[in-house]
This record gives sequence, structure tokens and C-alpha cells, in this order.
Amino acid sequence: MSKPSNTHFDVVIIGSGAAGMTLALNLPDDYSIAMLCKEAPLEGSSYYAQGGVAAVLDDYDSVEAHIKDTLIAGDGLCNPETVAFVVEQSSSIIDWLVTLGVDFDTRINSQGLAEFHLTQEGGHSHRRVIHAADATGREITERLAEALDQKPGVTIFSDRIAIDLITSDQLGESSKVCRGVYTLDINTTKIQTLSCSNVVLATGGASKVYLYTSNPDTASGDGIAMAWRAGCRVGNLEFNQFHPTCLYHPKAKSFLISEALRGEGARLLLPDGTPFMEQFDPRGELASRDIVARAIDFEMKRLGCDYVLLDISHQDDALIQNHFPNIYKRCLAHGFDITKEPIPIVPAAHYTCGGVVTNQAGQTDLPGLYAIGEVSYTGLHGANRMASNSLLECMVYGRAAAEAIATQHRGPAPKNHIPDWDASQVSRSGEDVILAHNWEELRRLMWDYVGIVRSNRRLLRAQRRISLLQQEINDYYANHTINRDLLELRNLVQVAELIVSSALQRKESRGLHYNLDYPVSLETPRETILTPHNYA
Ligand code: FAD
Ligand code: SIN
Repeated sequence: MSKPSNTHFDVVIIGSGAAGMTLALNLPDDYSIAMLCKEAPLEGSSYYAQGGVAAVLDDYDSVEAHIKDTLIAGDGLCNPETVAFVVEQSSSIIDWLVTLGVDFDTRINSQGLAEFHLTQEGGHSHRRVIHAADATGREITERLAEALDQKPGVTIFSDRIAIDLITSDQLGESSKVCRGVYTLDINTTKIQTLSCSNVVLATGGASKVYLYTSNPDTASGDGIAMAWRAGCRVGNLEFNQFHPTCLYHPKAKSFLISEALRGEGARLLLPDGTPFMEQFDPRGELASRDIVARAIDFEMKRLGCDYVLLDISHQDDALIQNHFPNIYKRCLAHGFDITKEPIPIVPAAHYTCGGVVTNQAGQTDLPGLYAIGEVSYTGLHGANRMASNSLLECMVYGRAAAEAIATQHRGPAPKNHIPDWDASQVSRSGEDVILAHNWEELRRLMWDYVGIVRSNRRLLRAQRRISLLQQEINDYYANHTINRDLLELRNLVQVAELIVSSALQRKESRGLHYNLDYPVSLETPRETILTPHNYA
């Protein structure tokens, strides 16, 4: 391992998705900014977003209607102020993206004028989702990245994983603020200390804690675990969203089939071709995601089948191929022609509704630490996120946090030198197979016991196993040289533990959290906030 080095920036942003890039672009040009990403800059959930961005853009739609739909989907647990704060900014966020060159789909209306093509998704009472075919995330992140290339003062560290936050109390100071972050260069294994006035967690979600997920490999809950270890509260982590429709194919690795297909008329069918959604909700295929995923899970268990079907083949071929070119091609590559036949689908873990508790500027409990995007818990999503509200939240809070940081005093580099990472007590392990087994065990037990339908028995069983795994992993971490696999596993087992604790605290079923032992919702909805200081 080569010699560690220490570098100072005004702001260190951990994560280069929609949230991290929006924040960087909105910071003043004279700021020095470090942006870290575990893989290439565009790799993350934002790039793979399909359906689009929810925004009030149609004269027949309204901010009030978007707020109302979000509150209904959130099943009593959204913070109404947060919902209004986000939804009121939706059209200005779209204006900003358009100025950056984002090419959203348009259509010609009945007066012969071009306007944005808006699609519909579950829970929305109106066509409200602006999109770039079925690859909206790719279009947005590529344009954000191009804009970032033109911005002075930004240093991007690819293949660089943040290990842990550095707080001033560790440096012998009396007050506790965030001073920087230890990072590992995944290729060279060099550990570097980055000191700064502000750290922003934009690390995305934690859906990789489940065996089957629509998310890319970056989604390992690192930001939640780092913030928790640094003393921040986390909220509503029991609400894990399962996307109802991922392709069921051994080689497709839970490839997402956008909800927008159902917005354009796709039906959910049992393997024998019978539609079933109306029995579960009068909105049918366009009920909110918690309801649709649970209905599919119920039917799969009832019939003992491995999948149900999604059928859009009755729609016009050209509409399907123009609106869903990537899904069409990807399914074709796996032997399914969606213009001609139904495809097999299953639910998969998709989105982490809870996260690090923040205020409306993205500030966490630790001064100098912000959290934005999927890593955060702002109160927007409540017990269930409404489709396409996530990219919107990433950009609204990216902008809000940038404004908050820019209005603060930047502060000099810390007076006390931050000590280098101490690797003197660890050695290389010859037994990485242990890590592979722990990964598999953790993700499987979360899928089996902490999935779409839960019970007290399953949760307690998960808790016992997670506790054992956590001891083993922490022991391994204390004694062996770190690598990405070990860091992510240590973070994920921490997040799993927090998810299960949150789920056990909720003595009801609500939104995405369904417990067979408490099938009804309590009268007064309460958020679940865990605090490191009082944690048993
Ligand atoms: P991400 O885009 O996930 O970026 C996380 C970044 O953090 C990455 O750069 C990663 O490398 C970095 N990172 C993580 N940990 C570390 C670490 N320890 N050190 C350094 N870097 C780190 N939402 C919508 O609103 N509309 C949609 O149409 C939509 N479609 C989706 C389709 C798919 C397939 C998926 C998976 C999600 C979809 N979502 C959609 C959800 C939405 O895409 C995500 O919630 C959102 O993009 C998260 O953005 P983010 O910036 O918070 O994180
Ligand atoms: C989708 O296109 O179905 C994903 C939308 C989302 O997760 O918001």
C-alpha cells in the first residue's frame, strides 16, 4: 500500500448520481469540490431510471393534485410540508433540465402544437410523468455530466469508495462537526484522507440488501451506515419498496419493466391469462406500488408459481417500440417480443424510502454533513414512494443543499491535522470465501424474512441471524485489510440491522410494511426514528 495523503476541499460529495451532480452544479464556481463514486461516474440508479420525473406541467393538472396523490401513496406518513416543498418546485426543476439540454419526449397536441409527452404511473391521478422514452435517467445524467465537465473546481474521483466520516471529536475538539472522509482507491488500494468544510452524502439507497433487486451494485447503503456510525438519526427504514414488475429470466438480473407500461395499458395476468388486479384495488394496474407488489406476491404464493405475466401486446406496435425501445430490445434479446406476447415478471427490491434524517436543506444531525437523494429521509415518501417522485426529490434537495452550503461561511482547513488511516493492526485475509458466504446469507435472509410480507417470527429470526453475521463481519473488518466487498458488506449488515429494528418497532401494517401479526393500520400514524445514542 502506498503512502496516504491528505487533501482539502470546500465540499466533498460522496456520490455522482442525480442528487450529487445537481448539488455540484448549483454550488458557486469558486468552490473546490471533490466528487467520489465507487465505479464510473454515471454508474448508479439515476442512470438506469426508466419511467421519468413526476412534475406538474399540464394545464389540467395541479400542484394540489400532485400533493394529494403523494400523500395518499405515503399512507399517512408523509410530511405535508416536505411534499409541498418538493412538488411546488417540480416545474422549475424541469425548466432547469431543459436549459441543460435534456431532450424529453414531445407530442403534437390537438391544436397542432408541440408539447411534452406525459405518461402515467401508479398512484398518479393524472398523466404527469415527463420522460425520455424509457431511458429518462440516462438522458438526464448524461446532460448533467456534460454540464459538470464545464464547471471549474470539480475533481472527480472514480473507483473511489468512502470508508467512514471523520468528526472533530475524533481529533480532540470539544464540539462535534464533520471534518472529512477516509477513502479507498479501489484499484490501487491506497487510502486517502479528504478534509473539507462540508460532506454531502449522495450515495443512493440500500436495495442490494435483498437477494433480488432492480438496483445496480452501487446500492449498498453506505451513506446510511456511515451517517449512523457518525451519530446521525435514521428514519422509516422499514419501508423498503418492491417494484412489482421485473423481468423473470435467469440472465436478466431483475431487469426493470417500467411502470409506464401499465400507464400505457399493460395488464397483469395470472399464468393462465386471467387478469387479477381489480380484485385487490379499484385502480387495478395503476394502484400504488405497495398494493400491486403485494397482490402479485399473494397470487404467486397462492398458486405456487414462479412469476405472473405482464401483457402490453394489445397496444399498437409502433407505440410500444417508440415509447419503450430499450425494454423492447432487452426483452427481445431474452426471447420475448412484447409487441406479440406477455412476459413473465416478479417483484424485486427497488427503493429505500427511509434513510438519514434531514431538514429541508438536506442538513443532517451532524453539523457539516448533508444527505440528499435516496440516502436521505426527508418525509416526502412516507410509507410508500409514489412512482417518479424520486428523481424529483434528488434534484430539489440537490439544489436546496447547494444553496444552504453556499450561504454558510466556508471555513478553513481543520487546525488539528487529521491522522492518517491506521492499517498497522490488520493483515491480508486468505479467506475471502467467508465474505462471499456472508453476502449470500444476508441477502437471502432479508429476502425470505424481511420481504413484502413479514411476521414477528420472521423478523425475530432475521434479527438473530443478522446479529451473528454482524459480529463476524465486524471482527473480520477489525483484523483484515479492507476492500470494496468488505466495506459494503459491513455497511449492509448495519443497514439490515436497522431495517429489522425499525420493522419490529412498528406494531401495525402500513404502506410497504405488511406484518401478518398486525394486519391493520393504527389510528395515529407515527414515523420510526432510531437514534444512535439510545440504541440498545
Ligand atoms: P444514485 O443515482 O444511486 O447514485 C449513487 C452514487 O453514490 C453513485 O455514484 C455511487 O457510486 C456513489 N456511492 C455510493 N456509495 C459510495 C461510497 N461509499 N463511496 C463513494 N461513492 C459511493 N425514480 C424516478 O423518480 N423515476 C424513475 O423513472 C425511476 N426509475 C428507476 C429505475 C431503476 C432501474 C432504478 C434502480 C431506480 C429508479 N428510480 C426512479 C429511482 C431513482 O432512480 C433513484 O432513487 C435515484 O436515481 C437515486 O439517485 P441518487 O443520486 O440518490 O443515487
Ligand atoms: C419505473 O419506470 O417503473 C420506475 C419509476 C420509479 O421507480 O419511480
